[in-house]
Parts: sequence; C-alpha cells; structure tokens
Amino acid sequence: MAMREAVLQALKEKNGEWLSGEMLSESLKVSRTTVWNQIKALLAEGYEVESSPRKGYRLSSPPDILSPAEVCPGLTAEVFGRKEYLYYQEIDSTNSQAKALASKGYPEGTLVVADMQTAGRGRRGRSWYSPGSQGIYMSIILRPVLPLKEISRISLLVAVAVAETLAEELNLPACIKWPNDILIDNKKIAGILSEVVTDMDGIEYIVVGIGLNINNQPQDFPSDFRTPATSAMAEDRCLVSRVKVLQGLLARLESHYLDLLAGRFAGTLEKGKSLSVVIGQELKLDTINGVLQGQAVDIDDHGFLLLRDQSGIIHTIMSGEITI
Ligand code: BTN
Repeated sequence: MAMREAVLQALKEKNGEWLSGEMLSESLKVSRTTVWNQIKALLAEGYEVESSPRKGYRLSSPPDILSPAEVCPGLTAEVFGRKEYLYYQEIDSTNSQAKALASKGYPEGTLVVADMQTAGRGRRGRSWYSPGSQGIYMSIILRPVLPLKEISRISLLVAVAVAETLAEELNLPACIKWPNDILIDNKKIAGILSEVVTDMDGIEYIVVGIGLNINNQPQDFPSDFRTPATSAMAEDRCLVSRVKVLQGLLARLESHYLDLLAGRFAGTLEKGKSLSVVIGQELKLDTINGVLQGQAVDIDDHGFLLLRDQSGIIHTIMSGEITI
C-alpha cells in the first residue's frame, strides 16, 4: 500500500477522532515530516484533514471524493475503473483527456474522473456546467468489436445504465429522452457525450462521457440552459454520496455492455423503451439532414428512433435533437 493510502486508512480507522502525529509516524515507521507531506497530499486531493500541534490529525467529514482510494473498495465492476483509473481534482474535460489516452493505446475500461471541469463539453458544441465537488464528470474508454451501425446501441445502453442507477440507488424516477438526455419531471439531471474514432476495420474506440448533477443547488444552474436542469439533491432534498452513485453506475454500465458484446441486447432495449419519454409523442427532430416533425413510434433493435411523419412515412433516425 502506498504511504498516502496508509495514512488515509489510519485516519479513517479513528472514525473522526484525533490521531497523534507521533503514533502515526511510529506505526508507519516513517518520519513526522513524511507524515506531514502525506497529509498535504490528502488536503490537495480534497480530503478535509484538521491538524493540531497537540492532538495530531483528524479526518473531519466522511470523504465523498471520487478518487480510486474511495471508489474502488466498494466497486463491483470487474473491468470498468479497475485497470486504469485516472482522477483529477480539476481538468478541462474528462472526454478530451480520455480521447488523448485512448489514442495512446489505453485499454478498454480506462476511467477518467474529475471533481471539476473547466471546459466540460456537451453535445452540439455546448458546454457542460461542471462546478467542483457537486457533480460526477466521468469518461470511459470502450473498444468494442462491433459493426459501426451498432453504435447507437451503446448510446442507449449508457442511457439505460444512468437512468437505472438514479432509480435504483436514489429512488429517483429518471427517464430517457432519446438519445442522450436523462430527465426527471422534464428537467435534465444527466447528459451523455459519446465520441467515436473509427479506422479501416470499424470502431477503433469510443469515449463515453457522462455528466451527472448530484449535489447542485437548483438556483446555481446557469439560467441559459435549453432544458431546465435539476440535481439529485434538488429532487431528494438531502446530500447524496457521489461515491455510491459512481460505483452503482460503473457496475450497471459494465453489465449492460457485457450483455451487448455477448449478443444479449434485448433486455437493455426493452428497458430503454420502457424508460423513454418520447415514444408516442408528437415531436420535432433536428437531424443532420434537416428538421423532421411527426410521432415517435418506437426505438428499433439498433437503438434508432422510428418517427412517423404527417404523410405516414416512417423515418429511421440515428441521432438528433428532440423538441417535444
Ligand atoms: C450533453 O447533454 O450535452 C452531454 C453532456 C456530457 C457531459 C460530460 S461531463 C464528463 C464528460 N466530459 C465532458 O467534457 N463532457 C462529458
């Protein structure tokens, strides 16, 4: 175990009580200066450690930090976040970082998580509001051996995993606004940005980026959002453990993804349809080929939306922006 983890574990074992610097340095067989350097590293990671010349050190509040030291112990996912887990207190965008790592050959399941993003990116060139210590900002590298036309299945499975996590971990009635928005009562709680890089053989890698609003105060959201925003805390009226949500999300993402690779997509598709707020609705759809208007009738086996226009023609849509 690294020295920083050993210091952290010793502090946690005291359950909020003081631990003297002398005892700590004796039990870990290092100098008081080494202990202090590890405490400084923990403070820099966001841990709230009090220090007193007489009493020593104390972990002030139960940490809700998305570092591997906090997330991995309760993680049931076996690949996602297990091989490579990169945690940043601050970064421009976890998607940009994951893409840079993927192009260097980082493996499937590599997880990039940040406490805060300075240039979080949303779909269609928008930005993603990413204040410190409030949300979950994560990106994962996938390297599926799948034909390119199955890419929308991945979009749908990610949306299902996010909505299920909110429902099952926090009891929130989360729905999917095809293809990538997760809503509660028509307010957006999470967004997904998938970026694909292809080569001659098909998909080289996909970076799936997920932003979840967890402990944001509703009044803090910028007022220029297209869709009104909400957070888990705003819905639940209490502080939510980001660590618990991330652990649950990684487990569900991995399980739906492994099902897809094993040719078992039917269950995920049914779940996605049942959670969809668009099926049966009259809507306007902004696609790369122009605006379509009509009724959303179904989501097909590829994860594409089927839209019947006024003349009864069914359009198969891979991606677009819906206005209901
Ligand atoms: C959207 O709804 O427009 C998609 C938002 C995706 C935001 C996440 S936050 C983590 C990851 N890093 C980014 O820069 N964007 C995604």
